[in-house]
Amino acid sequence: MKLSLRFVLPLMLVLAGFAYALGPLVDKLTTQWFVRDLEIRASLIVNTIQEPLQEQLAAGKKAKIGDFFSRISQDERLFAVGYCASPAATALASRSLPAEIRCDQLQRWQGPGDHLLPSAQGPLHVAVRPLVNEAGTGGNLVLVHDMSFVTRRSEETKRYVFYFFTAMAAVISLITVVIAQLSWRGWMAGMQSLLRGEGLLRQPAANTPKHASEFKPIARDLQRLIHELEAETRARDESNVTWTPEALRAILHGELRGEDVIVVSNREPYIHQRRGERVEVQRPASGLVTALEPIMRACSGTWIAHGNGSADREVVDRYDRVAVPPEHPAYQIRRVWLSPEEEAGYYYGFSNEGLWPLCHIAHVRPTFRSGDWAQYVAVNRKFAKAVVSESKTKNPIVLVQDYHFALLPSMIREELPDATIITFWHIPWPNPESFAICPWRDEVLAGLLGSSILGFHTQFHCNNFVDTVDRFLEARVDRESFTVSFGGKPTAVRRYPISIAWPPEPDMVQKPVMDCRTSIRQLNDLPPEHKLGVGVDRLDYTKGIVERFRAIERLMELNPEWIGRFSFVQIAAPTRSGIDEYQHHEAQVRAMAARINTRFARQGPPPIILKVEHHEPKAVYEYCRAADLCFVSSLHDGMNLVAKEFVAARDDERGVLVLSQFTGAARELAEALIVNPYDADQCAAALHMALTMPAAEQRDRMRLMRGLVAEFNVFRWAGRMLLDAAAMRRRGRLIEKPGSQT
Ligand code: G6P
Repeated sequence: MKLSLRFVLPLMLVLAGFAYALGPLVDKLTTQWFVRDLEIRASLIVNTIQEPLQEQLAAGKKAKIGDFFSRISQDERLFAVGYCASPAATALASRSLPAEIRCDQLQRWQGPGDHLLPSAQGPLHVAVRPLVNEAGTGGNLVLVHDMSFVTRRSEETKRYVFYFFTAMAAVISLITVVIAQLSWRGWMAGMQSLLRGEGLLRQPAANTPKHASEFKPIARDLQRLIHELEAETRARDESNVTWTPEALRAILHGELRGEDVIVVSNREPYIHQRRGERVEVQRPASGLVTALEPIMRACSGTWIAHGNGSADREVVDRYDRVAVPPEHPAYQIRRVWLSPEEEAGYYYGFSNEGLWPLCHIAHVRPTFRSGDWAQYVAVNRKFAKAVVSESKTKNPIVLVQDYHFALLPSMIREELPDATIITFWHIPWPNPESFAICPWRDEVLAGLLGSSILGFHTQFHCNNFVDTVDRFLEARVDRESFTVSFGGKPTAVRRYPISIAWPPEPDMVQKPVMDCRTSIRQLNDLPPEHKLGVGVDRLDYTKGIVERFRAIERLMELNPEWIGRFSFVQIAAPTRSGIDEYQHHEAQVRAMAARINTRFARQGPPPIILKVEHHEPKAVYEYCRAADLCFVSSLHDGMNLVAKEFVAARDDERGVLVLSQFTGAARELAEALIVNPYDADQCAAALHMALTMPAAEQRDRMRLMRGLVAEFNVFRWAGRMLLDAAAMRRRGRLIEKPGSQT
């Protein structure tokens, strides 16, 4: 409206000024027109009165002629009439004939000129016409017209001209404003769709405005500018922030206006188990849980997860919620119950026999069954309903975790179109050829593309995902901004390397390292100076435990001085034991440990101490603090947080990390001894190097790695995602309501 007034008022002023400036011209033109009219009128009057006048002259009735003229000049416009028989004669005239008009000066009114005579009542027009009789000439008739009506008419005309221009200004303004509004809306719609990435990309969608191409360059520039500004702000924000729970809370309350966060994962952070009379609370072995739990403590939202503990149902309220952590409740777990069929199809089947081996290059074939897929779809739908029922607003922030919920983002988007959905894929994403074997690959991709942000640990996995989408879906892929548009809103594909809480909970590092060394050695019947290695994993074939044992065996072969002087404690948490492949793997691991131990048993403690049982985080930390080295030999791993936990546990700056090059962690922890787990000789050499590494070198390496984990901790991981989500929300508001910014 303001904009319209700003345009209309000046236009009206200009046109009104124009109308005003036309005044003198109007005067001149109307005078000319009326003078011409009066000339014609004069000739007409002369023709009309010529005959009666001549009769009266012939009859010598000169006295009556004055009266005759006076009668004629009662006409509204005819002011006076006179007759000059000759230049020397006295005019026979009506009483009103001005004195200036004399017979001897008639030539003054006959030549060229406007023949106007000023007078007290306004200008007079004087016309002189010869009278023609049979003899040839018969004197001149003088007709004087009152011109004051011309001035009146001229004024009226000027008024009408002014009204006309003013009305014209109003109409032009109105039409212009309407057209401008319509074009502005069209322009904005085009620009908005381009800024959303719908028109800039390779294949324009059917509903992309036709004129989008006109805006492409400007929209590209705008997009680039927005991204640059965001990147700049993020870099500045990130470098200024010390990433703590408080910083994360500040982002949530400041940038996201105190939104509650909803996390969805299959695995719950606290499992209630019945042990006889007691209910025990267990913390599961899951990198995902390790990373997310401190985030939820800081953010105080709701964590929706599968409730599978034997006492889980006993402790929830009537909304299936329970407050955790049990000691200091900070957030809610909302438990979702699954039937054995649902769990079999969705969790064991499609998630862990299908997607898990599909995404990990560990040489285990994926198994896909349509029945599993049906349960996977149904369970994703069930969780979507839980998300809707838990969200307090129409636009919650939902953090969807991992491969169990590939369909959830688009299901949430259907119900809550304004939700900000951040999906994090904790495992690797394979290349398009590998992914193509999934019979429901298009559905999985489409489901994930309901996310606002889709995160992976490494850029390599982001690239694989974008390549896969590009290969199989009719989606628009913008590689400059790493954004994919499929149907609805665009999805930003981003790298967010996950991490752990820093500093570690005081409880975890409370026991001095020396005490940990002593007690762990005692616990395992090892001499005090015995060298100790540690591995902490779920008993999963992707973790390379078989390869790890082979490397230990090779170490004993290549460097027999370690036989009886070095033992490797493998903590292996039982996992997914309902799956054949896992049962087979456990049997293989057990058999291998036994074989190696038998081979080297004669000379003291066994090389491998295998502990197939669940260990709580505190016990894991104690082993990490007690060990001389930690060996992470995953065949393929999104990140591997055990590597980072080992670093966090070593506040004494000692201990060596031997790390598989196929983990995401290897890209960050460059000071570890990086190995190829398939190369047993190389791994054995690395183990030997670790066992003989001077304390100073251990310290230098550990210090650098601790610095990195401290800086790139899990609060930064979550903070970056939330900051990106906040920027996205801001941009969304800007694009939806451009007027609000003017
Ligand atoms: C991996 C997955 C997690 C999962 C964890 C434990 O880290 O990315 O989603 O929670 O393994 O596996 P589980 O099947 O026991 O939950």
